[in-house]
Amino acid sequence: MVGGMRKLSRNDLCWCGSGKKYKRCHLDFDMTRGISGGDISVPPGAIIKTEEQIRGIRKSCQLTKEILDMAEQHIRPGITTNDINEWVHDYTVSRGAVPAPLHYNGFPKSVCVSLNNVICHGIPDNTLLKEGDILNVDVTTILDGYYGDAGRMYMVGDVSGEARQLIRVAKECLYIGIEQVKPYRDLGEVGYAIERHAVKHGYSVVRDYGGHGIGLKFHEEPHVHHYGSRKRGITMLPNMVFTIEPMINEGRYETRLMPDSWTAVTIDGKLSAQWEHTVRVTETGVQILTE
Ligand code: MF3
Ligand code: CO
Ligand code: CO
Repeated sequence: MVGGMRKLSRNDLCWCGSGKKYKRCHLDFDMTRGISGGDISVPPGAIIKTEEQIRGIRKSCQLTKEILDMAEQHIRPGITTNDINEWVHDYTVSRGAVPAPLHYNGFPKSVCVSLNNVICHGIPDNTLLKEGDILNVDVTTILDGYYGDAGRMYMVGDVSGEARQLIRVAKECLYIGIEQVKPYRDLGEVGYAIERHAVKHGYSVVRDYGGHGIGLKFHEEPHVHHYGSRKRGITMLPNMVFTIEPMINEGRYETRLMPDSWTAVTIDGKLSAQWEHTVRVTETGVQILTE
């Protein structure tokens, strides 16, 4: 959650994390961009990454992407979600990295695998994948202390037209969200655009989970809504790093938590699809770190 978010004034510490007062740091530069401090909302605490941190985060994100590519080669009918867990775990460790989900708040496995009506945080087990299944694999890697987080949808063999369409629109939602990322814009634009696209296709957007700042920890500020009004949340600023990871439901957006207290499922049993990237706000727009 974004706690204690406030408008920046001249005498506040600059948003960039320099430790200088805003008026002695980025104020003049922001004014040349048509922005004054009063138009910038920032959560407390430095959430702007240094160039060195971004290099580290990018490396971790590139490994995350590699792992998702690897999974693509192996997913087929007859394997279990535990098999995916093993491949992801072993690949991650072989590259000198750590799978972030393992033991994170008690999560028991190294990757989230969310099948069909599972929205997110599915725990790998002995479930066999069968023709027609759709699944999300969500990989988070810690490399040299830096976090990268991304997820994709996979189809097992021949999949129904309905499922294909959901997967396609969910992916479009992610990229439409990413297109909204520009410095000095409100983060609310991201969720607004995503929801509009989902609703246009008759789908709903999950509200109980969102994207998040990331880099030095798994989940940092800000919280990234995938729905709602454009003027909500913080101002996107250069070198902020966060995920966008819309969960799009065929039916209702409400979630239900299974007794394992992780697995979130749709309340109507219908399908859900999710794609995720880690992105960085640049001086002019956005850079996708997990691509
Ligand atoms: N990777 C998920 C995300 O995108 C978080 C998974 S938390 C876990 O935020 F504990 F389930 F791994
Ligand atoms: Co994430
Ligand atoms: Co993730």
